[in-house]
Amino acid sequence: MTQRKILVTSALPYANGAIHLGHLVEYIQTDIWVRFQKQRGNDCYYVCADDAHGTPIMLKADRDGITPEELITEVGKSHFADFSEFGITFDNYHCTHSPENKTLSELVYTRLRDAGHISSRTITQAFDPVKNMFLPDRFIKGDCPKCGAKDQYGDGCEVCGANYSPTDLKNAVSAVSGATPIEKESEHYFFNLANFTQMLRDWTTAGHLQAEVRNKLAEWLESGLQQWDISRDAPYFGFEIPDAPNKYFYVWLDAPIGYMASFQNLCDKTDLKFDDFWGIDSDVELYHFIGKDIIYFHALFWPAMLKGANFRTPDAIFAHGFLTVNGEKMSKSRGTFITARTYLDHLNPEYLRYYFAAKLSNSVDDLDLNFDDFSQRVNSDLVGKVVNIASRCSGFIRKKFDNKLSATCVEPELFTEFIAANETIAESYENREFGKAMREIMALADKANQYIDDKKPWAIAKEEGKEAELHDVCSVAINLFRILAAYLKPVLPMLTSEAEVFLNAPITTWIDALQPLVNHELQDFKPLMTRVEADKIAAIIEASKTDLLKA
Ligand code: 2FM
Ligand code: ZN
Repeated sequence: MTQRKILVTSALPYANGAIHLGHLVEYIQTDIWVRFQKQRGNDCYYVCADDAHGTPIMLKADRDGITPEELITEVGKSHFADFSEFGITFDNYHCTHSPENKTLSELVYTRLRDAGHISSRTITQAFDPVKNMFLPDRFIKGDCPKCGAKDQYGDGCEVCGANYSPTDLKNAVSAVSGATPIEKESEHYFFNLANFTQMLRDWTTAGHLQAEVRNKLAEWLESGLQQWDISRDAPYFGFEIPDAPNKYFYVWLDAPIGYMASFQNLCDKTDLKFDDFWGIDSDVELYHFIGKDIIYFHALFWPAMLKGANFRTPDAIFAHGFLTVNGEKMSKSRGTFITARTYLDHLNPEYLRYYFAAKLSNSVDDLDLNFDDFSQRVNSDLVGKVVNIASRCSGFIRKKFDNKLSATCVEPELFTEFIAANETIAESYENREFGKAMREIMALADKANQYIDDKKPWAIAKEEGKEAELHDVCSVAINLFRILAAYLKPVLPMLTSEAEVFLNAPITTWIDALQPLVNHELQDFKPLMTRVEADKIAAIIEASKTDLLKA
């Protein structure tokens, strides 16, 4: 197998709020895929960063009485801690408010400008005369022009679903100061996306996108591409535009460049070369995992920006759907808006990694976390099937055979059958069909348990003169368990590493070359995973309701 070079990203989380279970779908999905690639022996790098710019971050810091820099430093640390405890292992985690990102954003911008892809014109916008700042739509509130509902945002009504512009709102006020907004003119900079219409027609139909996403893009391309407003006026937390004092890059311009900046930061710490990955002739595979809500940015603006600035474009955008909890949108009042930290306070992170893996496919369909189903799957698959194989047989090996496996594998066919499954399992992982991979692995776990049920080691142990048979049967089962652990390693890195300690043998590569352990000494078996307890789930929901009171 030739070694592939791969660069992978997940979307950059905003540095003004906690990571929640909705975010984790994506980071867990990406992390599993990256771990799989590494286990296959590919040269794969996973970079991410905090998305640190923009008005909401500036205003939150203001409300908290700290500087934006202080806010993003604090939030960045908590994001990183949450990710680490969920086993999400980046090769680099950076921040978009960084020197690398400033340099690269300026470079991309000046290249686009010099190639004639930037223009400027004066626009009229809502302005808060008390705070002396222009107001993004989300920061204007008023009565819905259609149904009259009070306290609706400037971009749309949550009661009747109407979309409108903030100037249509009745009794509009600034959500920042409460003042009545005035209209004010200002010069803005635009990226001429329409210059890339043909390029994007080609790119979006050249196999870089899921079918559903491609269809959506065809609609957008059909309706014509508009200029994209990439500047914001001071005060703004971001990077000032080189040739435009007091004008800042809109956060969505420098956010995806943050992928490059995080990678640049990694290059500075290693001997990786930036141009090998981002240069126009790069032969490295580049993949962006994102949520379906930010497809427009990643499948239109981003490839066009890269192209216009003479960088390579992505090989694929992998979009996923939203998370619902117990069938409904996550809700603070129902206690289903669950932060990563609240989950970690009560439950093993690998339960969630497994559950998401079991439910993920490569489509943009939404994914439901149903807590009854969650407990049932974890308890029955991981505790009841996989871990059970080891716990059913390790005791005999320890008590009767000094923790040593027998000298031959007496079921070479069964062993080979488990190994032979590696190709289809690998294909499912590769295609992000993790649910399918988990079903294939659990079918093997059923087979291993069936083998133990048929052989009945507990009965053999009672018969005289059957030591060798008992030894062989338990050794086969432990070897089958090892193959399952290797298959599950991308999903359950912590459980697998404990299994490796028990097996006294590391699992470093993909399964195809795995040989049975014979005449091999094990370590004492310790329970690798306990059952999900219902009261812990109740505690999470309760704590998530209290979090709301604190917020
Ligand atoms: O939607 C979001 O949460 C953004 N912070 C994602 C940015 S992804 C990338 F483009 F930086
Ligand atoms: Zn309305």
